[in-house]
Amino acid sequence: MGIAGATTEHRGDGLAVRHVPFVDLKIQAAELRAEFEAAFGSILERAAYTMGPELREFEDRFAAFTGCSHAVGVSSGTDAVKLALIAAGVRPGDDVIVPANTFIATAEAVSHIGATPVFVDCLESNGLMDTAAVGPAVTPRTTAVVPVHLYGQPVDMDALAEVASAHGLAVVEDACQAHGATYKGRAVGSLGATAAFSFYPGKNLGALGDGGAVTTNDPAAAETVRLYRNHGQEDKYTHRVAGYCDRLHNLQAALLLVKLPRLAAWNEARRAAARDYDSALAGRHDVAVTELGDQLEAVYHLYVVMVEDRDGVRERLEAAGVDSGIHYPVPLHVQPAYDGLGYSAGDFPVAERRAERILSLPMYPEIDQSQRAYVVAALEQALA
Ligand SMILES: Cc1ncc(COP(=O)(O)O)c(C=O)c1O
Repeated sequence: MGIAGATTEHRGDGLAVRHVPFVDLKIQAAELRAEFEAAFGSILERAAYTMGPELREFEDRFAAFTGCSHAVGVSSGTDAVKLALIAAGVRPGDDVIVPANTFIATAEAVSHIGATPVFVDCLESNGLMDTAAVGPAVTPRTTAVVPVHLYGQPVDMDALAEVASAHGLAVVEDACQAHGATYKGRAVGSLGATAAFSFYPGKNLGALGDGGAVTTNDPAAAETVRLYRNHGQEDKYTHRVAGYCDRLHNLQAALLLVKLPRLAAWNEARRAAARDYDSALAGRHDVAVTELGDQLEAVYHLYVVMVEDRDGVRERLEAAGVDSGIHYPVPLHVQPAYDGLGYSAGDFPVAERRAERILSLPMYPEIDQSQRAYVVAALEQALA
């Protein structure tokens, strides 16, 4: 059967091919162009490029959005994780527990400050850090654990808090994919000592370039991030520590201020798309949808399923005009960058098995109902 709304070429199997991108950032750019241009014009008039009033206003509003008393704008999500670790007390020589199934930036940030990532496996049902694996991974040098709210789904933070407190570990959230997700009614970013967000363009809240933020309820931690992001500078030319040049550009803050009021609606649109996918795929024996835990609200940065013959399915989807992704194809313990840590294939079987089967379907707030239906139909045919 063909699909309503499909327009172009008809194939032998009846699928009318159309293109569904994986994400489409041009839609928001077009919608918000006038506001972006006004924000840009205002910055130009004042030549207010660094540490300006827009940065402070964005920080206040983003703190409120995450239910935290402080947010500090920084240059990227990677730097946000790094600064969040420093502010939580992680020092060179420490061990920091991170999931094997995440984007490499989580572990890179640990390495950047001279600490060592210690990997743990993930849950089969949703790819999130297996909190039961954290205790056994603790060493005498472990000072922190980084739960990654991957794909926009919160980690089981109560279970993690219990193991972290039993071992005296700081909890540093990597919320780079989860702006607005909640766990038992509380926003991610407010659930640990410190938390990191990314404003990479494709994120749920994306700048027009790189950006990030650290959130915290601890004023001393916020001060530490402010200090380190700007050359350790306390007063002009008094440098208390050797810091970094990790500021969020004032222009990016101004652009993020245009987008932030829309974020809740965009997240709701993602959830609606995810509900459509969930109900269309429910009950299929050949597609495993991601299982969400109780009492949490995900924000679907990504919509990830698992299928057998993933590469074949992906090729057939591509031929039907449906773009897809793999997040992530190689777990961190077997990445060349971490050869020196002594891990090998087989160490984290769940992450390794998932990496062979996961497939991310098109997901962005503006994906419409006919596109979702087309994605599902194309997937069903790709599996047939
Ligand atoms: C889980 C996770 N952590 C950290 C980062 C790093 O963010 P950025 O790309 O802004 O440095 C990303 C972004 O891709 C991410 O997905």
